[in-house]
Amino acid sequence: MYDFAASADLPKPELYRELIMAADALTAGEFDGVANMANIVALIWQFVPRLNWAGFYRAQGSELVLGPFAGKPACIRIPFGQGVCGAAAASGETQLVPDVHAFPGHIACDAASRAELVVPVLREDRILIAVIDLDSPEPSRFDGDDARGIEALAALIAARI
Ligand code: SME
Repeated sequence: MYDFAASADLPKPELYRELIMAADALTAGEFDGVANMANIVALIWQFVPRLNWAGFYRAQGSELVLGPFAGKPACIRIPFGQGVCGAAAASGETQLVPDVHAFPGHIACDAASRAELVVPVLREDRILIAVIDLDSPEPSRFDGDDARGIEALAALIAARI
């Protein structure tokens, strides 16, 4: 049994530090990428409050394909450059969107989503493997601490998924 739990009311940087330690413990030595992505989504879901969707899209050719996630069923294929996830894939840069209604080309998978954070997972700092997508029903839910936390998580797991 794995029993990781986020301590209540932690400041965000510490919450992400705990999440990353748990992710490291769960994925170290395991080479199955799907298993690792599935466990990482479960940890994000457990540690990061006020989300309505969290998951992976994997880079395949010039599109993103849905991977392990928590939340409502989502669109399966997203071409690079389309929507928030496609923008992260095309640019290789984190997308922090306070209000998805104001993001041109946003792809609505769950009507409840208002804020979105998408972080590319890059191997050797340049080869796109996947993106991690977090959605929240709260506008402006995500800030720089969330972006840095998920970026650190992406760096940890890049060689494990
Ligand atoms: N909203 C995303 C699509 C993926 S879902 O949110 C799960 C986008 O615009 O890329």
